[in-house]
Amino acid sequence: MSDLAIDCAGVEKTYGSGATAYRALKGVDFQVAPGEFVMLSGPSGSGKTTLLSILGCVLTASGGKVKLFDQDISHAKEGMLPGLRLSYIGFVFQAHNLLASLTATENIAMLLELRGYSSKAAVAEAHRLLGDVGLGDKVDSKPGDLSGGQRQRVAIARALAGAPPILLADEPTAALDAQNGLSVTETLRSLAKDHGHTVVVVTHDNRIFHLADRIVHIEDGLIVEKS
Ligand SMILES: Nc1ncnc2c1ncn2[C@@H]1O[C@H](COP(=O)(O)OP(=O)(O)O)[C@@H](O)[C@H]1O
Ligand SMILES: [Mg+2]
Repeated sequence: MSDLAIDCAGVEKTYGSGATAYRALKGVDFQVAPGEFVMLSGPSGSGKTTLLSILGCVLTASGGKVKLFDQDISHAKEGMLPGLRLSYIGFVFQAHNLLASLTATENIAMLLELRGYSSKAAVAEAHRLLGDVGLGDKVDSKPGDLSGGQRQRVAIARALAGAPPILLADEPTAALDAQNGLSVTETLRSLAKDHGHTVVVVTHDNRIFHLADRIVHIEDGLIVEKS
């Protein structure tokens, strides 16, 4: 049994081949314990999105080992990735990508119905998830009636549809002002601390660093030690 939620050893990723090959990850070792709230920070182009995409079963690594809990995903065939992603991963992007014509509840319930929930059960679960991100009083609001931070919290609730144990967020506060950025980060932290999710946030937003359990720095495709 693994005691880790995420265990990367020597992870490499090369885009392209031959003369145009580009080594985006050069042997990344990265571990996250269950329930931990970790921020991954580094300059633009350092490999943050690439690493998150590998953890999120969107891309496969070119080399090294990647485990999510007890599942080794490094040798997964391309066709297995969507199923692994469904089991393990919720993804939050910089842009919330909510459908403007649907309420917060409907944006989430739609996904749950695709996962086999009845429409009644999907609504109940969507309400529970919106409660978990502090939006219990906004379940019937449409995106246009919510603040940027509230919209991003709906997107977080949507990422949790189907109860994936790991939540990955790529620069989720980049488009937000300081106050909304903090509220979104506090929500992500609470999902780790109060609800047991393992949460990894890619960010270079120094306004939110103080909320992390741990900050891991990546530069030029490698994890670097920083005090
Ligand atoms: N699909 C791709 N094909 C070729 N190069 C890529 C691709 N995606 C990213 N890269 C390159 O890999 C490096 C790391 O990219 P990325 O992981 O997006 O960095 P970050 O998220 O830290 O800004 C960059 O130099 C980028 O140009
Ligand atoms: Mg990126």
